[in-house]
Amino acid sequence: MLTSGGDSPGMNAAVRAAVRAGVNTGLEMFGVRHGYKGLIAGDVQRLGAREVGGILERGGTILGTSRCEAFRTKAGQAQAVRRLEALRIGGLIVIGGNGSQAGAYALTEHGVRVVGIASTIDNDLAGSDITLGATTALDVALEAIDRLRVTASAHGRVFLVEVMGRKCGYLALLAGVAGGAEAIVIPEEEQSPEDVATAIRAAYQRGKSHAVVIVAEGARHDADALAHYFTEHAERLGFELRIVKLGHVQRGGAPHVFDRIYASLLGAAAVEHLQAGSHGVMLGIVGGQITATSLAALGSLHKPLDPRLVHLAHVLAQ
Ligand code: F6P
Repeated sequence: MLTSGGDSPGMNAAVRAAVRAGVNTGLEMFGVRHGYKGLIAGDVQRLGAREVGGILERGGTILGTSRCEAFRTKAGQAQAVRRLEALRIGGLIVIGGNGSQAGAYALTEHGVRVVGIASTIDNDLAGSDITLGATTALDVALEAIDRLRVTASAHGRVFLVEVMGRKCGYLALLAGVAGGAEAIVIPEEEQSPEDVATAIRAAYQRGKSHAVVIVAEGARHDADALAHYFTEHAERLGFELRIVKLGHVQRGGAPHVFDRIYASLLGAAAVEHLQAGSHGVMLGIVGGQITATSLAALGSLHKPLDPRLVHLAHVLAQ
């Protein structure tokens, strides 16, 4: 198995579950170091039940991860396949997000038996209602937002809190709704800096002592762009502003209970799928059930934000 792309809380728990489920049925299990980079280099180690002890509660990934340009090339993929053949690896579990699952699909085209596990804090993967690590990342963001609201209120300030999510507004939307934000800025909605300023002014007019604005990093007007606009128009707008970019802090958390259980189910299910001859799929959760989606179909599937939640965010910000 390998972990690839941005690490996300629960990757270790998935590795642990896959190793122990595999060993339990008599399989030999191996971990690839540093994702596809390690696969190309043949950097592989055998993993027994004891080697994966004490990692359930750890964030990050004990296997290491990478974003590997070489693996995007045909030559890189061919080298990875040669390594797998030389090591007589019968199946590969790829734990990661969009790019990692695209890589997994590329390997299936070379005849490799692959099962993916939907794992990214961004929750931008079709084929899974929620991806591994996203809920822990949200809890981390919420803890920060709750603290920021306290100091924002004490000073009557506006806080722009930028959260990760790449091109997807999921983390910002959920953190905004759960964190009681006065405004949420996401790539999926067109909002001008003046729209955001209007929402902030309206919050003060309603008697609020602060305004917390959650901004998705992928929004057209990210935290820097908004801050630039608000500073340029500071006199007219009349509010004091601070920016906090949560960034990678969101990724480093220890997996919370949902991600530990979810990772355990996914890791074990990945082994079961490979043993049952079901591969070329990515595992996630759909309607509460562990579900396999074809890797071939994944690239053309889009996962939109829940419009009810987008609407609710506006209602609750009042
Ligand atoms: O995909 C996960 C993610 O954390 C995104 O939210 C973010 O845009 C990106 O990875 C950051 O990547 P890196 O760690 O390579 O800077």
